[in-house]
Amino acid sequence: MLDIKVTLTQTPKQKPVDESALGFGRIFTDHMFLMDYELGVGWHNARIVPYGDFPIDPAAMVLHYGQAIFEGCKCYRTADNTLQLFRPKDNLARMSRSAERMCMPVLDEETALEGLKQLIRIDADWVPHREGTSLYIRPTMISTDVGLGVHASKKYCFFIILSPVGAYYKEGLKPVSIYVEDEYVRAVRGGVGFTKCAGNYAASILAGDIAEKKGFSQVLWLDGVEQKYVEEVGSMNMMFAYGNKIVTPKLNGSILPGITRDSVLKLAVQLGYEAEEKRLDVNEIFADAKSGKLTEAFGTGTAAVISPVGVLALRDEKVTLGDGGIGVISQKLYDTLTGIQYGRLEDRNGWILKL
Ligand code: COI
Repeated sequence: MLDIKVTLTQTPKQKPVDESALGFGRIFTDHMFLMDYELGVGWHNARIVPYGDFPIDPAAMVLHYGQAIFEGCKCYRTADNTLQLFRPKDNLARMSRSAERMCMPVLDEETALEGLKQLIRIDADWVPHREGTSLYIRPTMISTDVGLGVHASKKYCFFIILSPVGAYYKEGLKPVSIYVEDEYVRAVRGGVGFTKCAGNYAASILAGDIAEKKGFSQVLWLDGVEQKYVEEVGSMNMMFAYGNKIVTPKLNGSILPGITRDSVLKLAVQLGYEAEEKRLDVNEIFADAKSGKLTEAFGTGTAAVISPVGVLALRDEKVTLGDGGIGVISQKLYDTLTGIQYGRLEDRNGWILKL
């Protein structure tokens, strides 16, 4: 397709003045990208238009049966003012994999990427400058067929919105505290845990809310069968360091195959650490944290970047990891990953797409 019609806004918004107060996902830029899909026609009507509401029929299938998937990636401003994306093609490819599982159409990834590049060029002044900030990109696909029969929709809308952001957690790079969820589960075998479907996040909100009221930032999900093996945190994948060895749960169909997770595993090996993907028993993790064998824990994600975990709580017990501060490996990986993303370090893996 690739033909993208552009309509520019006549009323540009005020850009955020204080970039230290951006937070996450609260402000949106002047434009958005959209394209439509119809069975028999394919993807069509690619367009960039002023950011704003769009009409949706109250009987649209997404509102009732939840065919909705999304992605998250970021655009960074380097010191010499180049704008660059980190692994955007991997995000779009993952969206197509989510789409297949949710019985939605595979994306026209070429047009989506071109639309994304054009959109960011138009809203380039919205990419923040301050250290640690970026332009968060949220590609989303929803079903738009009208009707209440439960079956695959024949019509879909794909859109991309952009948001200048700071840190996802209010703690920034300070360690977060995580509660191991042992009542509710996020995903089950044969389910949709590996997709970035909206329902996975909806299902996590109650446990997240309870954990927050107890003073924790997030919950750590266990497997849906034995409620024993570590899965992920919902907004990030989890990694644990034992000396120079990093371990992380093996992808099993119910964990999100994180792009930051994959990048960190590769960087860890390139930096000389050992990295292993395997099934991790939460009781062992907890015992190792108490004995001091487990030296660091951190989450990885586009929004979360690398987020050290200072405290882990399981039932009524709490354990402080290391000295409760950011560990040496977490800091090294953070510096290396963000060094590449912000153009301070050479990208030896072909992950950067300059605009
Ligand atoms: C991301 O890291 O991009 C995510 O999608 C996680 C979260 C903000 C829902």
